[in-house]
Amino acid sequence: MSRLRIYDDTRNDTPLAVLDDHAAIAEALNAVGVRFEQWEANQPIAPGASQDEVIAAYRADIDRLMAENGYQSVDVISLKPDHPDRAAFRQKFLNEHTHSEDEVRFFVAGAGQFTLHIDGKVYEVLCEKGDLIGVPDGTPHWFDMSESPYFVAIRLFTNTEGWVANFTGTDIAEQFPRMNPHASAATVS
Ligand SMILES: [Fe+2]
Repeated sequence: MSRLRIYDDTRNDTPLAVLDDHAAIAEALNAVGVRFEQWEANQPIAPGASQDEVIAAYRADIDRLMAENGYQSVDVISLKPDHPDRAAFRQKFLNEHTHSEDEVRFFVAGAGQFTLHIDGKVYEVLCEKGDLIGVPDGTPHWFDMSESPYFVAIRLFTNTEGWVANFTGTDIAEQFPRMNPHASAATVS
């Protein structure tokens, strides 16, 4: 189940709020400029579907976002718990960083946890199947896929070459909860 926990950025012990209703999560994130939506496939996606088939199933929503925000390209990535490089992939975006362009992800299957650091608060967003999150450019955040990653995600880009992490150099990400591996493992089918 999708979940948003909001913390004061100096206190990791008690969340200020815990939301698990999609509309409430979207409202709280929209209030700080973060897009959060639910998308539904317009056709069933068979196991082992190609990138093109996955993108076709969400074409209308993809086109809407590309038109609204000027994204130029779209692709599909996936990761399974037995991937030999999963630890290295996980480490890549585990510390606080920004990008010079939006980070836009739609979870076709599985789960991942985005944590955003905005105006003295920490927004920990557990994204599940059907969730779209848009982290605005320049927003400090980190991403955890857990030690047992499982997800299929659509990515939208303005410029894939410009999509690099600029690390802030803080250790704040280590002070807040990492993703519970059971959140993604439970959705493997
Ligand atoms: Fe990122």
